[in-house]
Amino acid sequence: MVSKKVEKALNEQIEAEMASSQYYLSMASWAETKGFNGVADFLYKQSDEERGHMLKLVKYINERGGQALVPALKGQPKSFKSLTFVFEELLKHEISVSKQINELIAICLEERDYTTQNFLQWYVSEQIEEEALARTIMDKMRLIGNDKGGLYLFDRDISTIAVTSAAAANPA
Ligand code: FEO
Repeated sequence: MVSKKVEKALNEQIEAEMASSQYYLSMASWAETKGFNGVADFLYKQSDEERGHMLKLVKYINERGGQALVPALKGQPKSFKSLTFVFEELLKHEISVSKQINELIAICLEERDYTTQNFLQWYVSEQIEEEALARTIMDKMRLIGNDKGGLYLFDRDISTIAVTSAAAANPA
């Protein structure tokens, strides 16, 4: 059984994962309308992954005798200054989610809820991967700047960057 304090913190995490999913979805839609189809596919997938993170929390809370709450949807930006800005935001966002996961783990330790702490280790690993991926992408974006040819190739190749970075984060 989760304590009320842990339940509340987990529900806040649901909100954070849902906000990530919605944010990345709005980025994906914007990128698609700008003709960056590779980037859009990448962001649609990220958005789906975040929804998966949220669902995992919903099921966990309910399984442990709490009640998962579905938060209200917040408005999302309609447009973004540039692709670089999109990925800067994505990296910033992931860093803040990682902090939030760490705080959540601190609450579990305070409450001596080692089961939830253990459950959250999956999120810790996932955040390491997502931050590594976002940093790899940002490094590329900094090299490309506003070079149109570079952006074209980046859009074409982003799925391979994603695969390479995930492999680097998870060496076999
Ligand atoms: Fe589920 Fe990337 O935070």
